[in-house]
Amino acid sequence: MAKEFVVTPWEVKGDIDYDRLIKQFGVKPLDEVILKRLEKLAGKLHYFLKRKIFFAHMYFDSILDDVEKKKKFYLYTGRAPSGPVHLGHLIPWIFCKWLQENLDVPLLFQIPDEEKFFFKEGLTLEDTKKWAYENILDIVAVGFDPKKTKIFLDTEYAGHMYKYACLAAKKTTLSTAKALFGFTDSNNLGELFYTTMQSVPAFLPTVIEGKTTQCLIPCAIDQDVHFRLTRDIAPKIGYSKPATILCRFLPSLAEGGKMSTSIENTAIFTNDKPEQVKNKILRYAFSGGRDTVEDHRKKGGMPDVDVSYQYLTYYLEDDKKLKQIYEDYKSGKMLTGELKELTIEVINKFLKEHRKKKDKAKDHIEKFMLRD
Ligand code: TRP
Repeated sequence: MAKEFVVTPWEVKGDIDYDRLIKQFGVKPLDEVILKRLEKLAGKLHYFLKRKIFFAHMYFDSILDDVEKKKKFYLYTGRAPSGPVHLGHLIPWIFCKWLQENLDVPLLFQIPDEEKFFFKEGLTLEDTKKWAYENILDIVAVGFDPKKTKIFLDTEYAGHMYKYACLAAKKTTLSTAKALFGFTDSNNLGELFYTTMQSVPAFLPTVIEGKTTQCLIPCAIDQDVHFRLTRDIAPKIGYSKPATILCRFLPSLAEGGKMSTSIENTAIFTNDKPEQVKNKILRYAFSGGRDTVEDHRKKGGMPDVDVSYQYLTYYLEDDKKLKQIYEDYKSGKMLTGELKELTIEVINKFLKEHRKKKDKAKDHIEKFMLRD
């Protein structure tokens, strides 16, 4: 029997079958043909693509058409602030930076500080704004070009956005919103309206450039439903349909599901101290190893279900090293403890660099901000 899983913008759980998700969401796999085209244009491929971490898309081919014609396009992504940034959040941002660098493309970064205020209990708009500015340090630390990157909080840029949100809102009926998002009579009006705000940045490239300009949205696949709606609305109000390029979720430390801020000890945050990272991985990272060393040596480990190994596929760039680890673990030559030590080392090295850049970001965020 097929395993149960849930993927919506508000909930991700279970053992996700990504091939089924492609069909369910009506998106396309990122196949060899499209990757070859990108490789030719960018001069190389990011390892997220080679490892199928980014695995699906909608209209990415149309973006590549524009790149081939030397036509300008924009990137757009976002982050709803409600807590600290963890290793999963960084994946689309790292990928955006790569695209920005290699295809020379501007980026719009939305911080919808109203989103989690509408959807979560006990968070004030002051709380979300505080998290917004904390999270922006993580975003800037990724290394975006300040000349080509604009970051905005919805509550600070709403004057600009409201007109386009109204255009989108008028084209969205209650029955569409209910069908797409599963809203019921007990959802508040903010939750209903919010999706129009998430659509707006997809129209802004055309507004800014004064002519039809495409937009590519790199994000995790749970956000796809918002942009399915945006694609439905866009042509009705004179904008081009946004393209998406979609990634998998970084797994939670525990078996199954994605890394999540709301479940304790399933996430590694960028602010975690090296000791904390070590303890979390040693204590909680689900292991694909066997019960005894003897058994492990004989039967070998199971890298495909091992969370530490999965983290290495996201955070260890060296293909050769990764392959060696895979083989050594699978053959039983490498033990779980050794795999975990390696993972701790890789993650802590990454985080050390990230925190250095985050410290420096404090003096630079104003170069990035857009406000009314
Ligand atoms: N809804 C996203 C979140 O929960 C935030 C977001 C806004 C976003 N616009 C986006 C994410 C565009 C990806 C792409 O964090």
